[in-house]
Amino acid sequence: MLRRKVRIALKRLACVALVCKFLLSSGIFDEVLSYLNNIHSAQDFILDSPTEGRDGIAHGASRKRLLESLNPETCADVPKRLVGKVSHAKDPPDMRITELVNNEVTDGSYEPGDCKSRCRVAIIVPIRGREKNLRHMLAHMHPIWQRQELSYTVFTITQAGTRTFNKAKLMNAGFKEARSYGRYDCFVFHDVDALLEDDRCLYWCDQQNPRHLCAYADVFNYREVWYFSACRRPGELFSQIKLFGGVTMFTEEQFRRVNGFSNYYWGWGGEDDDMYNRLRNKGYEPVNPYSRHCSYTLLQHPHEKTNAPTRAKESLVYHSKSRQDKDGLSNVRYKVLSFKSNPLYINITVDVGKPSQRMQDFIDRSRNLWFFNQCIVRMPWNL
Ligand code: BGC
Repeated sequence: MLRRKVRIALKRLACVALVCKFLLSSGIFDEVLSYLNNIHSAQDFILDSPTEGRDGIAHGASRKRLLESLNPETCADVPKRLVGKVSHAKDPPDMRITELVNNEVTDGSYEPGDCKSRCRVAIIVPIRGREKNLRHMLAHMHPIWQRQELSYTVFTITQAGTRTFNKAKLMNAGFKEARSYGRYDCFVFHDVDALLEDDRCLYWCDQQNPRHLCAYADVFNYREVWYFSACRRPGELFSQIKLFGGVTMFTEEQFRRVNGFSNYYWGWGGEDDDMYNRLRNKGYEPVNPYSRHCSYTLLQHPHEKTNAPTRAKESLVYHSKSRQDKDGLSNVRYKVLSFKSNPLYINITVDVGKPSQRMQDFIDRSRNLWFFNQCIVRMPWNL
């Protein structure tokens, strides 16, 4: 009985040995082993993937970002790398140096490496010329936006040609272009000469109301700025306007609800006063949740001769309510002439046209009027 069992066991062993010999000699074993060796974990795959980034600088960082994007946690509600007060250099560095310092910014965009940003922000800078201010602003602001753990893109919207500047139209165009480029929660309209003085003023939008970030500026002795409107609104003894320029911030819904900026402000000033009225007309009140942390230095710059303020702006501001729903984002016309990605910003050059003949006549007529007579000028219903 025992012998029989031993015999059967030996036979089975011989069979197994035969099968193994066959597998080894046929190379099937090698195939299976090499297949098993080539199965990577998800992490191995990413570590072996080709690196992205400019000039190989962002090599490690982008790999880390890819890894962490597999399991991102939302960034802290107080970003951990904030430093508080920040000073600025007297002169801007060369753009290449700023690119090297901010090597994780590519195509004007940045994503925090170790957490999921709380806020996707499009930063829209209306511009023409002002190359030195732009270098200064980018060198100063990029490190701040990164410390604030924003996911952001910087767009400069350049007005082509030498005709009268129209900042409001550029901002409307910037909103539309940014909107079609990516998904953003917040839209910041940023003057190219504005440098934030304290990184605790976070570039996060307020869901209830548009924000005025540049509430305290050196040129206004760090005081909130109110001024009287040249034209008194009916029923008011004095009509006050609160400064709403420099750096402002909207959610998409807020910006659409006010119908963006008016397209009729050719030359310096007024478009922000008009926006202040637009906000009030739609029941918004500009807010500044970070109070005095939102202080700015406004850089000096030469003023373009063709960009002088016109008196027409006073009556345009006065009549802003009647135009609001027809004049703005809903009817802005412009032509994109070029779209260029740079490491630290995307530049979109646009043709915004020129004032219509009616508008030009209106601007010319306003020039000869006494200041307060602006208010009784009847606005042409369609400029
Ligand atoms: C202009 C605004 C400007 C403000 C402060 C007003 O007269 O209309 O556009 O922001 O002055 O400089």
